[in-house]
Amino acid sequence: MNLARFPRIRLGHMPTPLEPMDRLSKHLSGPGGGPRLWIKRDDCTGLSTGGNKTRKLEYLMGEALAQGADTVITQGATQSNHARQTAAAAARLGLACHILLEDRTGYTDPAYTQSGNVMLDKLHGATVSRRPGGADMQAEMEALAEELRAAGRKPYVIPGGGSNPVGALGYVGAALELVAQAAEMGLRIDHVVHATGSAGTQAGLVAGLVGLNSGIPVLGIGVRAPREKQEANVLALSQRTAAHLGLPEGTVRAEHVRANCDYVGQGYGIPTRGMVEAVKLVAEREGILLDPVYSGKGMAGLIDLIGKGHFKAGENVVFVHTGGAVGLFGYPDAFDLPAEAA
Ligand SMILES: Cc1ncc(COP(=O)(O)O)c(C=O)c1O
Repeated sequence: MNLARFPRIRLGHMPTPLEPMDRLSKHLSGPGGGPRLWIKRDDCTGLSTGGNKTRKLEYLMGEALAQGADTVITQGATQSNHARQTAAAAARLGLACHILLEDRTGYTDPAYTQSGNVMLDKLHGATVSRRPGGADMQAEMEALAEELRAAGRKPYVIPGGGSNPVGALGYVGAALELVAQAAEMGLRIDHVVHATGSAGTQAGLVAGLVGLNSGIPVLGIGVRAPREKQEANVLALSQRTAAHLGLPEGTVRAEHVRANCDYVGQGYGIPTRGMVEAVKLVAEREGILLDPVYSGKGMAGLIDLIGKGHFKAGENVVFVHTGGAVGLFGYPDAFDLPAEAA
């Protein structure tokens, strides 16, 4: 695998730390012990507070600049972390940025519609416009691109979540980084777990880890789609990413792709009890901020699976923290926080 073949613009702070979460591991271990939990701090990639989109945007923006773009267009849910990080990357590179936000939750609380990521989109100078839930967001972006082309601009359209074979290269890079880091630390990684949505993070990790013949399984905890659909999306994108990398056909197979979508709750972006407990537990035990939509539900899944004995005592489980804590400010009432002392 030779990632240096692809256009890339450095935007992030990498490698991100790989750290033990010993207080959380101890708290979650049963009488017979439990797995040792590690965290890959991709919330610390930089670029408007960090998150998983930094790695994808290095390749997407690399391609945009190679094609002579002067404008980028992308889309996401109202509290999209991808939109915020795209706006920041565009600001850094001097490109105009148009963001289309889809109302996937129906929430009207101004904290949700205007604070958190939405505020930062605007602070980075992006133009924000809204679309109703269920809109064909790809078609909406293409229509805007057409308008901009007619006005003499050179737009580059980035799919939702930055999830295509170009963006997924960022997580192929993360797989290479993780394996090298573990080798240096003498750490045997038994499992990688993370939140999966538009599939690019898991697709890149799978293509990278399988391409390296690492033997490390990846489990995506779904935040939106049911399991079969999520696994099919991840498999298709992993295979397209492997092809883009020049890996032999058949390298990535269905058995390499596992998702568990039991922790979505009522729907995308809708808080669950498990998410609230996971966000609070990790904040209180490790001093680390997760987010309500992705990493909080991912961690809720990991915690529940530990309780069900899914991992063996003594196994090393790496949770990839994909970022998103800015989204906490869109959900001020979800956490049932204690009253202040007198
Ligand atoms: C914080 C966070 N974690 C995880 C994900 C899921 O990553 P992917 O869309 O690559 O599956 C996202 C995507 O939007 C995200 O913002």
